[in-house]
Amino acid sequence: MKLILLFLFCPIAFSAKHTLRYTLTAASGIPNLPEFVAVALVDNVEIGYCDSHRINPEPKTDWSKKGVELYPNVLDWYTYKCERNQRLIKMRIESLKKHFICSTGACVFQRMNGCDWDDQTADTSGFNRYGCNGEDFITFDLKTLTWVGQTSQADIIKQEWDRDTRRIRFWNNTLTYECLHSLKEYVAFGKSSLQRTDPPSVSLLQKTPSSPVSCHATGFYPDRASMFWRKDGEEIHEDVDHGEILPNHDGTFQMRVDLNISSVKPEDWSRYDCVFQFSDVKKDVITKLDKAEIRTNWVPPSDFLVAAVTGGVVGLLLLLVCITGLFIWRKNDNNRIPVL
Ligand SMILES: *[C@@H]1O[C@H](CO)[C@@H](O)[C@H](O)[C@H]1NC(C)=O
Ligand SMILES: *[C@@H]1O[C@H](CO)[C@@H](O)[C@H](O)[C@H]1NC(C)=O
Repeated sequence: MKLILLFLFCPIAFSAKHTLRYTLTAASGIPNLPEFVAVALVDNVEIGYCDSHRINPEPKTDWSKKGVELYPNVLDWYTYKCERNQRLIKMRIESLKKHFICSTGACVFQRMNGCDWDDQTADTSGFNRYGCNGEDFITFDLKTLTWVGQTSQADIIKQEWDRDTRRIRFWNNTLTYECLHSLKEYVAFGKSSLQRTDPPSVSLLQKTPSSPVSCHATGFYPDRASMFWRKDGEEIHEDVDHGEILPNHDGTFQMRVDLNISSVKPEDWSRYDCVFQFSDVKKDVITKLDKAEIRTNWVPPSDFLVAAVTGGVVGLLLLLVCITGLFIWRKNDNNRIPVL
C-alpha cells in the first residue's frame, strides 16, 4: 500500500493554510486494486471519491453532501472529470508502456494536483506531480511552464509533454485560477466543519512490559497538531519515536509517539508525561506515564499456564495467538486503534 500512502499523507501544514488536492491512481495488473481511483481532499480530509466501479462521485463529508444537494451540477462536473481522467490516465499508462517504462506486469501511475492558499497572507501556489510505481516521475513547474523529469526515464515523456502547449495552458489555468476558486468556495462552504477543533482521545498502549510505551491520540481535528514526551516538564528527544499523522475514516486524524522505557527506573515513571498539542489552539492534552493507565493485551506467562490448564482448548488457542505474536486491539468508541 506504500504506493497509495505516498500521496495520501502529506507533510503537516501550519497556520491558516488550506489545500485542495486531487489524487488519481491508475493501476494495471494489480489484483484487488480498482483500475482507477480518484480522491478529492480539502485540508487533508477526503471530501469526494470515485473509482472505476463507481463513476458517479460520492461526497464524503456532511458538508460536501449538503453542497451536492444545493448544487447538483457540481456532481455532474465531477462525474465528467472522473470519466475523463480515467480515460486520460489509462492513456498515459499505455504511453509509458510504449516507451518501456512500466513495461513489466504491474504498473501504478498516480497524479497529485491541487493548490494551497493561506487565508492570512493570501499566498497561493499550485502543484501537479506524477508518480510511477511509488516514485516521483514528472512534475509541472508553474514558473517556467515546463515539465520536469524526476528520473532519467521521464526525459522522453518530458519532451513529449513539453510539446503539448494546449495542455500546458490548461494546467497553468487550472492550477493558478480554477483550483483556487474551488478551494476558496469549499473553505467558505465547509467553514464550520473545517474550522472546528475536535480534541483527541489519548491512550497509552504497550505490547509487552519491555516494549516502548505508545502514546496514541485519535479522533482529533485539524491535523495541525504535534505530540511529544516530556520528562520533568521538558520535551525529550532521546528514546522517542514519532509516528506520522494518519487520517481516520470519519475525517479525523490519529498519531502516536513512542517512548522506549527500557532505561527508565520504575520510581521515575511519574516524571514523564505525553503532550498532545494543536498548533493554533491552546488545548493541550497531557497524559501521565502511569502503569495503571496502560492498555495492553499481553498476558503474563504464569496466567497463561493457569488458563491453558483450566481453560483447555480455549487456553491453548490463546497460547497459539500469543506464540504467533498477534496482538490485536479491540475496536473502541468507533475509533481505530492500531494493530500493534
Ligand atoms: C499562465 O497563467 C497566468 C495567470 O493566470 C497568466 O497570466 C499567463 O498568461 C498564463 N500563461 C500562459 C502561457 O498561458
Ligand atoms: C530501547 O533501548 C534499549 C537500550 O537503551 C535498546 O537496547 C532497545 O533496542 C530499544 N528498544 C527499541 C524498541 O528501540
